[in-house]
Amino acid sequence: MLAGIKDILIICRKDDIKRFEDLFGKGHKFGINISYEVQKYPGGIAEAFIIGKDFIGEDNVCLVLGDNIFYGNDLKNNLKRAVVNLNDSKATIFGHYVNDANRFGIVEFDGNGSVVSIEEKPSNPKSNYAVVGLYFYPNDVVDIVKKIKPSKRNELEITDINNEYLSMNRLNIITFGRGFTWLDTGTFEALSEASMFVKMVENHQGLKISCLEEIAYNNGWITKEELIIVGKTMANNQYGKHLLNVADGKVNY
Ligand code: G1P
Repeated sequence: MLAGIKDILIICRKDDIKRFEDLFGKGHKFGINISYEVQKYPGGIAEAFIIGKDFIGEDNVCLVLGDNIFYGNDLKNNLKRAVVNLNDSKATIFGHYVNDANRFGIVEFDGNGSVVSIEEKPSNPKSNYAVVGLYFYPNDVVDIVKKIKPSKRNELEITDINNEYLSMNRLNIITFGRGFTWLDTGTFEALSEASMFVKMVENHQGLKISCLEEIAYNNGWITKEELIIVGKTMANNQYGKHLLNVADGKVNY
């Protein structure tokens, strides 16, 4: 939504679809359109471009992993930069410095900061820059995915897609600074840590992280009246109070 995207496809396990539908519906309360597709077995992240082919149609596309959390200064500007790169038919990936480099796709840079290679979960990482789960691709990603073969873990790897764009000289990387927070919450421990992080920041600032109604309102996708209606249904909790404060113009930052 911060990138200006209004048409969103959620791909998940069959059993989880109803949970997401209960939460988001068709997305109209956020001024967006949400569709749903099932991934029948865990065939890899890149399979999204096979499952989502009809949804993508002739458009360019952004993919974001449901277990990744992004929070920090300049996120919106960096997303807009990635959207601009698409006009030149270039893909954009994002890098973030990490401690446990063998858990991720890792970028190797040359002396000028250009990408030389990307390796999936390397045993000898060539840097500490992980490729985070947020990718922008030109429309031809739906053809490129047909060329790649399943990896040793029997998945269509997103790293292989990125390496295809790299080999065509059509891959840009934006690195998030050290003050930026990126969390992969794919384990119980990491999810619990992320929950504590969000609670701590929200309590300290009195603001909300990733408040969808607020983003929709700031984008002009829902009206003040619509925001107030949702806020009033939750006026007895912090979230509803925040929405009413946004509608009142009290959240200026
Ligand atoms: C996936 C990608 C990896 C990326 C990571 C980010 O890892 O394969 O390149 O760095 O997401 O969260 P996976 O979740 O499949 O272990």
